[in-house]
Amino acid sequence: MAATVEHHLRPGTLQLATLPPLALYVHLPWCLAKCPYCDFNSHEIGSKALPEQRYLAALRADLEAALPLVWGRPVVSVFIGGGTPSLFSPDGIDALISSVRSLLPLETACEITLEANPGTFERERFRAFAQAGVNRLSIGVQSFDDALLQRIGRVHDSRQARAAVQEASEAFERFNIDLMYALPGQTLQQLHSDLDQAFAFRPPHLSVYHLTIEPNTRFALNPPERPDDDLASDMLDAIVERTQGAGLQRYEVSAFARPGRECLHNLNYWQFGDYLGIGAGAHGKISFPHRVLRQQRWREPMSYLEHALAGNAISNEHEVARDALAFEFMLNALRLRDGFTTALFVERTGLPLSTIEPALRSAEARGLIERDATSVRPSPRGFDFLSDLQQLFLPPA
Ligand SMILES: C[S@@+](CC[C@H](N)C(=O)[O-])C[C@H]1O[C@@H](n2cnc3c(N)ncnc32)[C@H](O)[C@@H]1O
Ligand code: SF4
Repeated sequence: MAATVEHHLRPGTLQLATLPPLALYVHLPWCLAKCPYCDFNSHEIGSKALPEQRYLAALRADLEAALPLVWGRPVVSVFIGGGTPSLFSPDGIDALISSVRSLLPLETACEITLEANPGTFERERFRAFAQAGVNRLSIGVQSFDDALLQRIGRVHDSRQARAAVQEASEAFERFNIDLMYALPGQTLQQLHSDLDQAFAFRPPHLSVYHLTIEPNTRFALNPPERPDDDLASDMLDAIVERTQGAGLQRYEVSAFARPGRECLHNLNYWQFGDYLGIGAGAHGKISFPHRVLRQQRWREPMSYLEHALAGNAISNEHEVARDALAFEFMLNALRLRDGFTTALFVERTGLPLSTIEPALRSAEARGLIERDATSVRPSPRGFDFLSDLQQLFLPPA
């Protein structure tokens, strides 16, 4: 059972002078089929009917029960992720956004992103999401090459991917294309072709991920042949160079945007902001004046439905230990090309700067960061060896 808000407000050793910006993440856990590389909390719907109405009711109950933790705090962004949220009907997404608006004060410029899969694309569907209040669409394209899409088990082909991006570009000023690289059997030429096709839509935002083989996936059981490290590194060099040429700045390890078109929701994560996470398996991070709380919702969709409708959506929660906070901050902030200001570190962790001074000196001596009087950023070398850099901030064993 989750602790009461009074419990979270009791005195403690941290001192957060102001609370961070608050975002809302909503998880919709179903997909048409499970991709063989995917370890997200996503479940194949197959031929079963989506329990849309019940799930929307569960999300509302979840949000209502969570309100006391974030009372009066304005919401800077909403991210409806999955899974495949575009499986939900535009009316369902409309009802969800209306629920959120009726319960939480959204800022005027609130970014509302929805993740879409080209396999769920039909004409006018994306426009209907825009009418429901979504103002940013993120499309999981992965590749525009039919053979590669097939090899990674996607439900859509390149024609559907192009049609989906075309409609997204007409219906949304802000949209993102997700691509993956180092795909099974992918050549450098095929990567260039994927980039050419993505740039043709003039996306304001592009995310490009190195395919990773995650434990407990079908690819982990049966790993496909993939480009070696040298080829993957040539691919990353090509991605960095060509995105720059296309006017997209690499502002985070895997994220590229035109100036002013960065994803506000993800930026808030990377700047160690707060987020309430509702929906099956969703994670949340909520700050209080003397502590930082992490929460998780029940992971199995059916179990989540039952628990959330009974007013008990949280499966576990814990306070972040004081000596783990600096590392958690660095796991996020050092992913950003521009790093962070020292004032932000103090504001978000409630710790004095002296806590990380030895690790900063060590990182500087190894050429992994650059810093001045007010800010710290990963050096190009630090960006390449990010986990080595982040590990310098681990709490003593
Ligand atoms: C949570 S998924 C949601 C997008 C949507 N479900 C889809 O796949 O079309 C977000 C993105 O993470 C990336 N991703 C998922 N699994 C990955 C893996 N094993 N390695 C690299 N990137 C991955 C994909 O680019 C995907 O679009
Ligand atoms: S569509 Fe996206 S979330 Fe669903 S299984 Fe595939 S990668 Fe995972």
